[in-house]
Amino acid sequence: MSEKKKILITSALPYVNNIPHLGNIIGSVLSADVFAKYCRIAGYETMFVCGTDEYGTTTVTKAKQEGLSPREICDKYHKIHKEIYDWFHIDFDSFGRTSDSEQTQIVQAIFRRLYENGYITEELQTQPYCEKCQMFLPDRYIEGICPHCGYEMARGDQCENCGKLLDPSDLKNPHCSTCGSTPVFKETKHLFLDLEKLKPQLENWIAKESVNWSNNAVKVTQGWLEQGLKKRCITRDLSWGVPVPLEGFENKVFYVWFDAPIGYISITAHNCREWEKWWKDSENVKLYQFMGKDNIPFHTVLFPASLLGTGENWTKLSVLSSTEYLNYEDLKFSKSRGTGIFGDQAKDSGIESDLYRYYLMRIRPEKNDTQFFWNDFMEKANGEIIANYGNLVNRVLQFISKFFDAQVPDVKKGAGSVFEATNFDEKIQIILKDFETVELKKALIDILDLCSGGNKFFQDNEPWRLIKENKEKCAAVIGGLFGFVRDISILLYPYIPAAVEKYFKSINLTLDELKIQNIGNYEKCGGLRVNALEVLFKKLEKEQVEELRVRFSGKQEKDENNAAGFDKLALKVGKIIEIERHPKADKLYVEKVDMGNGEIRQIVSGLVPYFSEDELRGKNVVVAYNLKAAKLRGVMSEGMILAAENNAGTVEIVSPDCQPGEWVVTEGAVPNKEEITVDDFFSVPLEVKSFQAEYDGKVLIAGGKTVKLKKVADGKIC
Ligand code: MF3
Ligand code: ZN
Repeated sequence: MSEKKKILITSALPYVNNIPHLGNIIGSVLSADVFAKYCRIAGYETMFVCGTDEYGTTTVTKAKQEGLSPREICDKYHKIHKEIYDWFHIDFDSFGRTSDSEQTQIVQAIFRRLYENGYITEELQTQPYCEKCQMFLPDRYIEGICPHCGYEMARGDQCENCGKLLDPSDLKNPHCSTCGSTPVFKETKHLFLDLEKLKPQLENWIAKESVNWSNNAVKVTQGWLEQGLKKRCITRDLSWGVPVPLEGFENKVFYVWFDAPIGYISITAHNCREWEKWWKDSENVKLYQFMGKDNIPFHTVLFPASLLGTGENWTKLSVLSSTEYLNYEDLKFSKSRGTGIFGDQAKDSGIESDLYRYYLMRIRPEKNDTQFFWNDFMEKANGEIIANYGNLVNRVLQFISKFFDAQVPDVKKGAGSVFEATNFDEKIQIILKDFETVELKKALIDILDLCSGGNKFFQDNEPWRLIKENKEKCAAVIGGLFGFVRDISILLYPYIPAAVEKYFKSINLTLDELKIQNIGNYEKCGGLRVNALEVLFKKLEKEQVEELRVRFSGKQEKDENNAAGFDKLALKVGKIIEIERHPKADKLYVEKVDMGNGEIRQIVSGLVPYFSEDELRGKNVVVAYNLKAAKLRGVMSEGMILAAENNAGTVEIVSPDCQPGEWVVTEGAVPNKEEITVDDFFSVPLEVKSFQAEYDGKVLIAGGKTVKLKKVADGKIC
């Protein structure tokens, strides 16, 4: 992997008071754990660190809601996190908390160095203060219009639409997101990290290191550098955080994003007296950091900047592995709506953690967002890991029990063996390279691919026939397969540790033998005794999966009131076949729309200011199909054509890619047969989020495909 022999691995510290869902789990802790397990069995000296991110306003708010102190809230939720990760067999070397005393010491020490080195400036800042709520509003509690893209619901820290970082004072029309009132801006003193001054060092470092970052990490970072590095405020008016060790700042703490990444260091220190040999040795330690994509800039710009500014030899990011988002059955995970499966629920779902681990790694969102679907889960668990790997283990061990007195024949690698038939050595090299370059999904697929070669070899050689005709040859076939399965098991251990440990027990090998270095070495295999095999996995059953799918589908399907909004609508895809200007109104067109099944409708629409006749002719459109027909300036209109619009005034026709006549629905919704008024129609909020048409977080589907926009990223549909 590198000249550096020590491997330090972190996964983004989860916010303490959010129970992690499967998307959070695959995003950082599980991916990092698979890699850490690989590193350990590959013989690298490994340290895998994680813990809960506990400071900041959200904790304070949550504590108020539950009538507890911030400390009590953190105690309660830290424990929940710990239990979930234990259940998933995530083996941290250190799983700690950012509210431990080491955090205060190390954060303050780093701050002092930055201060001495002249990278901290003091400024009077005007800050939004909500007089109704009687508090300074944290950046994320203030909403307004983004000055860059016009998005209306931009938060004070960052615009979700264009991704630009913001300062609350940049927002146009700011308001308190708790009570909606307009804040006043008051002066207060704050400390800033002078990124401008750190820029040369930082750019230098990024240029050198970014070769090992995922593509989107490089892109996001470049975006930051291009936006220009400004001073970043690192203090807040709050009491739940690391105190600022400077006169005049007694009532302030460090901003949670300044202290959180330092948590990696303090959590190591909490459990390991020699933490400096991990964190202050950039020559010998290689740092791998795992995270969801929204965490990238904090790890590629802000955290390294803080470390560089100290002038000390901190170990800094080397390889960054970030993931896109995992969605759930076409929906976003949502605790409040009860949509999706959260860590504590996975634990109680009756499905073993190995199968979740397998499926999540198998659909790891590496380049695009991916989806958790129950049916897909069942197919991949039963049809891949169980039918392929589980099956081969069973066949080989049962054969040995039955025909070789439960004693493993010698394993030979030569001609005619499974090793030769599957091109084993070459494939192993590829798989190890996958691991070394953190291509964890590819490694898994490559391992299973190799494993199917083993199944095919078993089938082709018909050992059940050979045992009668040529026992010696049979022993060679089965011996080889035994060694092959053992090696596949070693490679799969990072993904399905519980099953592989069971397997090792049943072949009477100790876990010390679970080493990458043993692959290809079969000295200890011949003569091993095989025990009766425990069941490695329980297959997923159709009814079980169906029950879970309903249980975790969330409010939208269960709660009739909520679904009633969309249920008012009947939306159908049509195609504009003729178009002309309205004889009496400047802004209106009159279109003939083919609605499929031989039906043609006439529709009047106000699209003249936005599109030419040529742009619309032949275009697919979505028609509000159950609108009461009405005359518009004397011309009859039977429905309405849907368009999306963003805050900047860009208008785009919603144009699904499918045949006329298809309904546009959310999953499970049935088009309404009754006529509705225009007002009814407008009371149903349809939106675009990240180019996806949605109703209340559910994606719109037409002809089996989700309905996407091309120009409008976020906006309203009407
Ligand atoms: N708590 C943050 C989140 O869940 C991640 C913090 S990562 C660290 O998005 F670097 F700050 F630790
Ligand atoms: Zn308020």
